[in-house]
Amino acid sequence: MWSRYWLALVLASGCGDNLEGEERQGGELTVYDRTNLAYTHPAPTLDPEQRNTHQLGKGPFNFAWAPPQLGPMFNHTGCLACHGGDGRGLSEIMQGPAPFGSQALVRVSLGVGTPDVPGGNVPLPGYGEQLQDHTTVGLPEVFVTLTWRETVVMYEDGEAQPMRSPFIDVRTPTGVPMPAGTEMSYRQAPAVFGLGLLEAISDDTLRALEDPNDENGDGISGRVNMVWDPIAAAPAIGRFGHKSNVSNLVVQTAAAFVNDIGLTNKLFPEPDGMRDVNDEQLDQTTFFVSTLSVPAAAGRTGAAQRGRTLFDDFQCASCHIPTLETGDHAIPQLAYQRIHPYTDLLLHDVGDLLSDARADFQATGVEWRTPPLWGIGLVQTVLPGATFLHDGRARTLPEAILWHGGEAEEAREAFRRASKRDRDALIAFLQSL
Ligand code: HEC
Ligand code: HEC
Repeated sequence: MWSRYWLALVLASGCGDNLEGEERQGGELTVYDRTNLAYTHPAPTLDPEQRNTHQLGKGPFNFAWAPPQLGPMFNHTGCLACHGGDGRGLSEIMQGPAPFGSQALVRVSLGVGTPDVPGGNVPLPGYGEQLQDHTTVGLPEVFVTLTWRETVVMYEDGEAQPMRSPFIDVRTPTGVPMPAGTEMSYRQAPAVFGLGLLEAISDDTLRALEDPNDENGDGISGRVNMVWDPIAAAPAIGRFGHKSNVSNLVVQTAAAFVNDIGLTNKLFPEPDGMRDVNDEQLDQTTFFVSTLSVPAAAGRTGAAQRGRTLFDDFQCASCHIPTLETGDHAIPQLAYQRIHPYTDLLLHDVGDLLSDARADFQATGVEWRTPPLWGIGLVQTVLPGATFLHDGRARTLPEAILWHGGEAEEAREAFRRASKRDRDALIAFLQSL
């Protein structure tokens, strides 16, 4: 009896030590750099030819486009302008002609009508599904004004947490609001590193993580978003975008070129078949975003180590899944990697306060994709002023946690009720990622 008790304790603490294995967050795609360049490194395992393709794809990604390719309607002048340091963007709307642009954007649709693609959203007549707030000629299609509303949430111990949420006002150049019934979703740019690994997580793995009817009774369900894949011309599991609203990185890259920068390409050509970005450039840029490495986690201090345990205790790990294995992938280096992304890529109801009241394929307003947390401790190192959650409302990590509701309400309450020491420990853990 005694010996078994001690054995259990030894195993438990041994287990704690094993968590140190979580340092290599990107498996073989892990790099040791926690500076402002942390997200910018190619996979160390690429062969010389792949490295060359990665470098070639970085060109169109980093380029600040100008007319005649740019626009005529656009949100910003290049991928890097919104994904600075290959990380997330600032949650801000900037008015003015190019080279100005906004790093965040507004998706729009109608609640009723005929979608463009099976299961998709109903485009807003005259606007499509994304508002472009900049143009190379004349006035933009819309003027977007972003204002912040401040509130406060109290921790159980009486400490106050300042909170803010965005309010978006959209007008035509003549001051007319969007038509009645327009659903809008304001979104900031997420980071683009490690995404090839997320693409390599198999459909079966995601299906196994689903629990739509909460059969294990933990209050947390989670389901995949089924979206339309224009290449396969078939439904597919969504992995990218804040609502897992895009199936893969080619589609994401091609859609970003055309919608965000106004650059036509082979998936979204001009009516006469012409394209601003040639087919090779599209493939190379897709390869570039597929093969960016993940920074290694920092060595854990005592507080961060305790925070890791609290991350499990508070149920954060039920959605932000710490460890996954990738499956097969066309880029062999991405396949069969043991990674620590802290996501399940599934949709979860995280409550009314985060709702955008806009459906996105099967996602409802209150549902968002669990974002990966790898590298989250470096967000503000890579881009000072960068903020958290889909719309960038959270200026700090505690603020981000306190916005969680719905399926994550218990997790949020565990954090809100915790002692200052425990809250700080959890944040120290997040900062180490
Ligand atoms: C105007 C700013 C802006 C520009 C320019 C832009 N993006 Fe994005 N990007 C975003 C936003 C906002 C999202 C989230 C979209 C959503 O949730 O629907 C996003 C999402 C992504 C994602 C998915 C990330 C994830 O974690 O799911 C990838 C990949 C990406 N962009 C690549 C690119 C590439 C490549 C380019 C250039 C061709 C580009 N982006 C240009 C704002 C931008
Ligand atoms: C029910 C699933 C679920 C649980 C439980 C959960 N989260 Fe989340 N988390 C999400 C979703 C979904 C989002 C995205 C919400 C949004 O963008 O509006 C998110 C966002 C975040 C973000 C912001 C990430 C970013 O990239 O900006 C952080 C940080 C975070 N969660 C940490 C935690 C911590 C710590 C816990 C435990 C106290 C926790 N989460 C529990 C689903 C969950």
